[in-house]
Amino acid sequence: MKKLSTTYLLISLGFLLFSCEKKEAPRVIQRGLIAEKAMVVSAREEASKIGLEIIQKGGNAFDAMMATEMALAVSYPFAGNLGGGGFMVYRLADGSTGSLDYREKAPLAASKDMYLDENGEFLNQLSTKGALASGVPGTVAGVFEAQAKFGKLSPAEILQPVIDLAKNGFVVTPNQATRLERVRQVVVEVNGEETFFNQEIKSGDTLKIPVLAATLERIAKNGRDEFYKGETAKILAKHMLAKGGIITEEDLANYQAVWRDPIVFPYRGFKIISMAPPSSGGITLAQILKMIEPFDLKSFGHHSPEYIQVLVEAERRAYADRNYFLGDPDFVNIPVDQLLDSEYLKSRMENFSIEKATKSEDIAEGKIQFSESMETTHYSIVDAEGNAISVTTTLNGGYGSKLFIDELGFFMNNEMDDFSAKPGTPNMFGLIGAEANSIAPGKRMLSSMTPTIVEKDGKLWMVVGTPGGSTIITSVLQTILNVAEFDMGMQEAVNAPRFHHQWLPDLVNFEPDSFDSTIISTLKSRGYLINEGNSPVIGKVDAILVLPDGKLEGGADRRGDDKAVGF
Ligand code: DON
Repeated sequence: MKKLSTTYLLISLGFLLFSCEKKEAPRVIQRGLIAEKAMVVSAREEASKIGLEIIQKGGNAFDAMMATEMALAVSYPFAGNLGGGGFMVYRLADGSTGSLDYREKAPLAASKDMYLDENGEFLNQLSTKGALASGVPGTVAGVFEAQAKFGKLSPAEILQPVIDLAKNGFVVTPNQATRLERVRQVVVEVNGEETFFNQEIKSGDTLKIPVLAATLERIAKNGRDEFYKGETAKILAKHMLAKGGIITEEDLANYQAVWRDPIVFPYRGFKIISMAPPSSGGITLAQILKMIEPFDLKSFGHHSPEYIQVLVEAERRAYADRNYFLGDPDFVNIPVDQLLDSEYLKSRMENFSIEKATKSEDIAEGKIQFSESMETTHYSIVDAEGNAISVTTTLNGGYGSKLFIDELGFFMNNEMDDFSAKPGTPNMFGLIGAEANSIAPGKRMLSSMTPTIVEKDGKLWMVVGTPGGSTIITSVLQTILNVAEFDMGMQEAVNAPRFHHQWLPDLVNFEPDSFDSTIISTLKSRGYLINEGNSPVIGKVDAILVLPDGKLEGGADRRGDDKAVGF
């Protein structure tokens, strides 16, 4: 009897403990903006609102793309642009997917060694600052191409609120005022004292750019050819020549945006749709996700040393391949199938040990058998019909080449620095490229931009992307994993601190003061070289998550002035 009651007592105690454990309150997710039908998330409130307004007027995601992108060119000249380029990945409500490449191209007069001196040394000032740093812009071609194929409204109707924004002005944020003041001296150095941005611009000021309003009015009236063949093209080419650049009217007239098949791959129960070359984003994201897929990340725990190690080691191997194999597919033969082959990727991780970091010097690009033959900005849109677009657009550096076309009202990119000007020598993001990404006339420079859409159970699940140069791919990766593996909400996933590794330099970067010191010391003891606080932020992710009830949750990055709006 006594034995029985002791057993009973033990069972009851066990049951009590078990039920206590079970009763633990579920984690409360701190959600971002929730909307019923449609949402735009971008780097500026004005741009998000103008995009949404177009949807409210009966436009779709592609009409909103034109509106948002052009509104960013007005209110976020740091990265929003007419003088740059970008990539767009879409998923229509019927489930069909595709992508548009409106990346800049090297001018026809560009040459492989154009940034090398007579001793073969890389003159990085030339590829980053001033007229010679610019590629032929693709943004206007891109937004018109997408809108013409899928949009519903007229460009004139879409562009009107953007023209009004440039005419009536937008309110300068504290972040913006600081950045504009910081860049002013270089802008004057490149453009002269009389240039538009050589003025004191304070937080709270209303900034009007009338000359940009006039450019946009001409584009609204005459269409994309205004920028590539019209008066705007003539002014632009003349200005570039006067400033020592090589972009000509012929370069502009030849420019075309290109529809490309996106990189589509499964990860656990998800389907990922991301950008193909000339962006490295989709392939590198796919390689990393496939390399980490066999590991039980959830059981490691979010931001545990083991979780960080698995990601870093996969990133090390994927970036080594990125830098060697990837470039413009119109110029180089990229072994896409082999780079994404499961057996190949499994073999890449075979020498990984949780005990000790692999050294980047011991990793090179994989052995592939060839067959015969920090400024960018991202916005995510879901419209009321269920179409989704993910767009990343850039001038490359903040305010691009700092060359401001005063007659037209916009900055030109310094995207030429994304080429591998001298194979083996790092560019401004520390990326070391190879022959596949060398400069050639008319070639597109390799990008890291990773506009991405994720499906779950055959339905739209997430729209995601970010700026951040080489850190774009790893920021998109972590945002997806935060929700897919760790059940975070969209805003939480965007808010979560980030880390980054890119093979070379052999360092792991962490956002400052965001990671536990014991995690960092464990990683150091396992041989990782840590760089904490090198960059105050890693990425500025703007994303949308479709919740189980069909509502949309926005994730607008707290690291910037980013804003989600919806209805
Ligand atoms: O295309 C690329 O990968 C770069 N030009 C992106 C630059 C960027 O994200 C800068 N932003 N922080």
